[in-house]
Amino acid sequence: MDNMNKPIYLDNAASTPLLDEVTTEILPYLKWLYGNPSSLHRLGRESFQAVEKARSRVASLIGAKKKEIVFTSGGTEANNLAIKGISSRLKRLDPKRNCVIASSIEHESVLGAVRDLEENGFNVLLVPTTINGRIEPENLKKTIPSDGVALVSIMLSNNEVGTIQPVKELAAITHQYGGLFHTDAVQAIGKIPVDVKLLDVDLLSMSSHKIHGPKGVGALYLKEGLMLDPIVSGGGQESDFRSGTENVHGIIGFAKACEITSSRLEEHRASLVALRDYLIFHVLDKIPDSRVNCSTEERIPNIAHFTFTGVQGEDLVTQLDEHGIAASTGSACSSKHQKPSHVLKAMGFSYAELTGSLRLSISILNTKGEIDRVIPILADIIAELRTHSPFDKSK
Ligand SMILES: Cc1ncc(COP(=O)(O)O)c(C=O)c1O
Repeated sequence: MDNMNKPIYLDNAASTPLLDEVTTEILPYLKWLYGNPSSLHRLGRESFQAVEKARSRVASLIGAKKKEIVFTSGGTEANNLAIKGISSRLKRLDPKRNCVIASSIEHESVLGAVRDLEENGFNVLLVPTTINGRIEPENLKKTIPSDGVALVSIMLSNNEVGTIQPVKELAAITHQYGGLFHTDAVQAIGKIPVDVKLLDVDLLSMSSHKIHGPKGVGALYLKEGLMLDPIVSGGGQESDFRSGTENVHGIIGFAKACEITSSRLEEHRASLVALRDYLIFHVLDKIPDSRVNCSTEERIPNIAHFTFTGVQGEDLVTQLDEHGIAASTGSACSSKHQKPSHVLKAMGFSYAELTGSLRLSISILNTKGEIDRVIPILADIIAELRTHSPFDKSK
């Protein structure tokens, strides 16, 4: 039985709660095992060994080798390290390797990194998306200049609408044109199988807090033999790729979350698909003038993205919150800044569609009972909002 007063968390694409098994694994490293992994004494050696064991666990989630994992402070840093670290190194070795390509629907951490490169003289190009949030391989081909590309960065799954990109094909095209391929897999890991060898990517970003691990930790997969220029200088940790004392307890928790994720991926995937489809069916059934976006595309199983004619997504989020339901208009970063979503804009949504959107993202901890509680509340809020804001469909 669901507790009728318990808050309902449907913003799991922004962050997820820690699993109990993860908390249990972390605690000793917060309380007693506080050694610095670089120290020579027993406590230091214990931390070092724990980090190395964690590295193997994280690597095995994505079919990588242990030495191909560089721990970072999260997905944002992994994206910045991949994009800036590789591009500056390639350009330093050959100034003609100056072109960097990303898609128009990347996370802000990728778009911000390529904007920084542009300010530093790189030729930055964006691949357009289709109206359904898919990056077509043909459009990448058209974007690559005749003299080639140094780096292409295209996400494995989008964080707002959940579409899965054809990364294997995109990486193959990039390699044909002599470039390296990076993918931001922050939203994909733990939701769909991810194998760096099958995808044939050169770099891949991950984040712990999207898979029930702690915040402030993530990793970059860096294919064996590749080198990059570090963006943080210091003591040379992480094989000189990322200086700074390792976030030991964070890394331990991240690794535990990866282990749980990889051992139960299919079971989790099936239950997420069933719950997401249940949610979508009842929203469309009970709420008139509602639409689910990108439903014809291959998508990760935990995100349902809706547009409700005649309401403002922000009002919806605020009112749902008053009922103890956490939801989002889109990515956590853009919601706080109240900026219209660059993803929906790039997909060609009208102003009304942009502002009337709601992202509900579930996790394995959500239940059908919670969805049953949410639907009538959502329907009532939308009906009420519509009575106050006559909708101008011409906009
Ligand atoms: C697709 C994507 N990339 C990168 C990030 C940033 O990850 P982190 O929060 O670990 O910095 C996020 C977080 O929302 C994301 O959704």
